Amino acid sequence: MKTYKIALLPGDGIGPEIAQEAKKVLDAVRTEAKFEVVEAAFGGNAYLQTGKSFTDEAKQICDDADAILKGPIGLVKEEADKIPPDEQPERGAVLPLRRRYDTFANYRPVYLPATRVQFSPLKASVVGDGIDLLMIRELVGGLYFGSKERGTNEKGQRYVHETLEYDEGLIARILHVAFGEAKKRKGVLHNVHKSNVLLSSVLWNEVLEEVAVDYPDVEVKHVIVDAAATALCLNPRQFDVMVMENMFGDILSDLGGGLLGSLGLMPSACVGPEKAYYEPAHGSAPDIAGQGIANPYSMIGSVAMMLETSFGLTEEAQAVWAALEQVFADGYATADLAATADGVKALSTAEFGDAVVKRLVAT
Ligand code: IPM
Ligand code: MG
Repeated sequence: MKTYKIALLPGDGIGPEIAQEAKKVLDAVRTEAKFEVVEAAFGGNAYLQTGKSFTDEAKQICDDADAILKGPIGLVKEEADKIPPDEQPERGAVLPLRRRYDTFANYRPVYLPATRVQFSPLKASVVGDGIDLLMIRELVGGLYFGSKERGTNEKGQRYVHETLEYDEGLIARILHVAFGEAKKRKGVLHNVHKSNVLLSSVLWNEVLEEVAVDYPDVEVKHVIVDAAATALCLNPRQFDVMVMENMFGDILSDLGGGLLGSLGLMPSACVGPEKAYYEPAHGSAPDIAGQGIANPYSMIGSVAMMLETSFGLTEEAQAVWAALEQVFADGYATADLAATADGVKALSTAEFGDAVVKRLVAT
């Protein structure tokens, strides 16, 4: 019997609450496989305990694991401001995690089946019978990882240099991922860029032409990033697979969460050559932490993505998705969504997890 080791990094804010529900669901998955879960502090909580937001112990646990399941991280601004910038959880933990495992391919599904269209803020005529698109975000390049410098210039003014760096290898490998996904789906790839202004997008598009030769059956459509933001609001159903560099992906994927009605509906997979980690695409929502009202969908969906992508447990993953969606189909949701639609019963974080487990074990 195969045993998979999972590093669980619950994170900050609502992280521990939603991680607990994800763990509950993982324990209820009916499978031949075994899961061994080892937890580590990560992010702001780790910094407050140890002075490091990504500790050596957490690194070891992640190194030893077959996959990493990570909750959201981040502290309220007043708390974060007390921490040196390099140890603040985003810069001190998340970016080093991405770099350590070179998780360049970030899959962010924006998925709204017909049973959930009432939660979208879009008009019924726009959202139709739902949205099913996949944003693929390059995750280890661009502005996030380029060289940075701060100082005082000759005018005596504080200045900053922050560089957007890519090379053709970094661009080609994410484009191969995107073309591969487009080929498996509808054969259409929307390339999001800003080549009218940014030289990085000019190179990106050049490399795209070269990579496209390997995928003659995929049609490429180009869309400039700012226009893509509008098009996503006006007609999201025209998109299937979208590919973009790191910063564009950060912004447009949050817009994706908005289309669904909540960022709590955005699980994600961050895949590297040897290891992947899985995380909600949203933040740690410290304002609602500890109230039992957070939406654990994104964390449970991240479990489903892990089962499929890292362990190849496709049927088990499908069962988790089906159970999650059945909870909505039965008229339940957490407070973030229940308040926006008529006749939906609100569940607490733990009740939502229980509802998923009940449907999962019944299949
Ligand atoms: C995301 C988050 C991260 C990012 C933060 C936590 C560093 O917003 O995964 O989208 O900016 O990439
Ligand atoms: Mg983001």
